[in-house]
Amino acid sequence: MPSRHIHHGRTSEPDLFRQEPVERHFSSLKQVREAAETCERCPLYRNATQAVLGEGPKRARLVLLGEQPGDQEDRQGKPFVGPAGKLLDRALAEAGIDPGEAYVTNAVKHFKFTQAEPRKRRIHKAPSLRETTACGPWLAAELAVVEPELIVVLGATAGKALLGSSFRVTQTRGTVLEREIHGRPERLVPTVHPSSVLRAEDREGAYRGLVADLEVAARILS
Ligand code: URA
Repeated sequence: MPSRHIHHGRTSEPDLFRQEPVERHFSSLKQVREAAETCERCPLYRNATQAVLGEGPKRARLVLLGEQPGDQEDRQGKPFVGPAGKLLDRALAEAGIDPGEAYVTNAVKHFKFTQAEPRKRRIHKAPSLRETTACGPWLAAELAVVEPELIVVLGATAGKALLGSSFRVTQTRGTVLEREIHGRPERLVPTVHPSSVLRAEDREGAYRGLVADLEVAARILS
């Protein structure tokens, strides 16, 4: 009888993650950006155009934290310049927050996507927890320089990056959380990701919910 040999397949792919910490103190956002530009801590750098770091005033009182750059952001090198960003700016203004006063960034700095063929549309793919964790030092470095009074957490990936894998948007949205993160006491208001508003069946209701959560943030900053 032929033996059925089951191959408990270890892939022959090398492990492309770098575990070592980023052992550097950054005194400016420019330094963080320059260091992150050549980041190879996870495999996402291989297909993305560039690392997209945050934008906004160095001493912003508010940080807006998204998931990862999308197609437009990857091309332009700036966060939230596509459709989700436009919606976010509108919601912020409606909540009484000047978008120009916030430092806007993402939990993951490289665009993760799938693409059926080279010239086809690049479809956003959610980053894994491992990719998000690998990118953590860059976010920690940005937060250490900006020292915001408040972080608005946009969606699940951003929440898991700062609050751990058990984070659920539905349980905490619109509330004020206080946690020690990367050695700093942080105040956070979680809400949904603006892309989820664009996808929602009840788009107006989802948009109103986002504005209501941002109003919680606006009250803290007022
Ligand atoms: N979605 C995000 O989470 N971040 C961006 O920069 C753009 C879209």
